Amino acid sequence: MEQRKKRVLGNWKMNLTSHEVRQLAEGMKEMPLADGVEVGVFPGFPYISMVKELLPQIRVGAQNFYPQENGAFTGEVSVLQIKDLGATMVLIGHSERRAIFNEDHLFLKKKVDASLNAGIKPVFCCGEPFEIRNTGGELSFVKQQLEDSLFHLSKPNLMKSVIAYEPVWAIGTGLTATTEQAEEMHRSIRGWISEKYDEETANGISILYGGSCNASNAKELFACPNVDGGLIGGASLKADTFQAIVNSF
Ligand code: 13P
Repeated sequence: MEQRKKRVLGNWKMNLTSHEVRQLAEGMKEMPLADGVEVGVFPGFPYISMVKELLPQIRVGAQNFYPQENGAFTGEVSVLQIKDLGATMVLIGHSERRAIFNEDHLFLKKKVDASLNAGIKPVFCCGEPFEIRNTGGELSFVKQQLEDSLFHLSKPNLMKSVIAYEPVWAIGTGLTATTEQAEEMHRSIRGWISEKYDEETANGISILYGGSCNASNAKELFACPNVDGGLIGGASLKADTFQAIVNSF
């Protein structure tokens, strides 16, 4: 059976202007990419094509899009527009979009379908807030997020997707999940896929960890059998730390 892909993806969020993007890309140009690890970044919309040109050796994605083909949606960006700029993947379900922009599970489901219809790989984010972890409800919470917005997919479409487990309490806080916490969730996610689909699907899909993942903790997280890499926020904004994470397998 084909080994599932290891991936390290950088979510630059709403950071960097063109000069800073150029500087970061310059640092990343020199970086020796690790063998067998797919590397990618999600710059802000205005810089997608620039990053694509500056870093042709890695994947470039968008952080968002609006799931309508075109039309009167002032200020929004369509999946065809991000594709046109060179994006081949897109973040869907990030906790910041769920919490700040009130994206609910039906809207996320629409985005998942629209991205796959356009041939763009969805990187579907899930994860529980602190109150849920605190009361021990994290497994059922995350399972529900996946059932609500991702598990309607056909097997071939699910296989084209990537899942990122990002506990909300770990994002930007410096509180990384322990290897036990990460592995338990990743193993459970794979188990649910196995139940809903089959073992081949469960074993073929990359499940990334995100949330204060950095150059010091990536090695032990990536050593967990069900953790296939990371979705990196803050630590992806510096070429050397991002490279150190890429080298952590
Ligand atoms: P941090 O790595 O800054 O915690 O962010 C994680 C994240 O939200 C990636 O999408």
